[in-house]
Amino acid sequence: MSNKPRDRLRVATQKSGRLTDAGRDLLTRSGLSFRESRDRLFCYGESLPIDLLLVRDDDIPGLIAEGTCDLGFVGRNVLEEQRLERTRRGEAAPFRELRALGFGRCRLSIAVPQDMAWAGPQSLAGLRIATSYPQLLGDWLDRHGIAAQVVMLSGSVEIAPRLGTAEAICDLVSSGATLAANQLREVATVLDSEAVLIGPAQPFADERGDHADLLLRRLDGTLQVRDSKLLMLHVDRTALDAVIRLLPGIDTTPIVTALDGRSDAVALQAVCQGAITWQHLEDMKRAGARSMLVLPVEQMLA
Ligand code: PRP
Ligand code: ZN
Repeated sequence: MSNKPRDRLRVATQKSGRLTDAGRDLLTRSGLSFRESRDRLFCYGESLPIDLLLVRDDDIPGLIAEGTCDLGFVGRNVLEEQRLERTRRGEAAPFRELRALGFGRCRLSIAVPQDMAWAGPQSLAGLRIATSYPQLLGDWLDRHGIAAQVVMLSGSVEIAPRLGTAEAICDLVSSGATLAANQLREVATVLDSEAVLIGPAQPFADERGDHADLLLRRLDGTLQVRDSKLLMLHVDRTALDAVIRLLPGIDTTPIVTALDGRSDAVALQAVCQGAITWQHLEDMKRAGARSMLVLPVEQMLA
């Protein structure tokens, strides 16, 4: 139970769904390896005392609330829906978001039939809206002062307008393919979502606290290098300042070194955050940079 000391950390992840592969990939790149049980519901941590429990995403906040799991990877949509549900019952949420993980991006949106007129949120007044997220939708309607009927469906929300059980829907949209296939049009965003790491509202009182800190540091390092590139180039000393000003997203001082036998030119190295586009490279070339190389960054430890 939650107050019994434990020396291994148990992390809840989605068994199968949009977060599964990317979540596992993030853990692998952070140096965690696992031995899978035969039923594939439990993965024993081999490299660190951190185990995985594979479950339905909707169960993850509850598993953390009751102390069965210590941390969890879940969509912010699930987290916020369950947080609101508890708020409405007058409870403080026993879990909290520790990190946004940058994958599984999607949005909870309101969509209406393509031929329905839309003049803003008030167009929903008096309509039935089908959703699996009644709390988030109800909250959005309240904030916009709209009286509409929320129809709770646990799945296949997108076919509700065709079945005549609702006039509009509120569902997750990622590529938009599901909406297009059902002749629906996205008209308002209720929540921007991505995968997040959640943990208990209270800190751990035993060794699990150290394991959780270690995992967070590893994840931070992995997330940071994911979009980092090492940029290397040559430039004349006279153009050096101009080129440095054009470096996209640098967060450390670039390294400038001498080129053998050259007093007029130097080599420059910098770690850049975010995408380096062809446009960036062309701008730097115009400013005097030559021999530019862009390399992926594997690991980084400050
Ligand atoms: C969501 C949503 C849609 C689909 C939208 O379901 O209910 O069916 O994804 O994605 P698209 O815009 O790329 O077509 P999901 O697979 O996440 O399952 P769940 O919400 O039941 O966990
Ligand atoms: Zn689900």
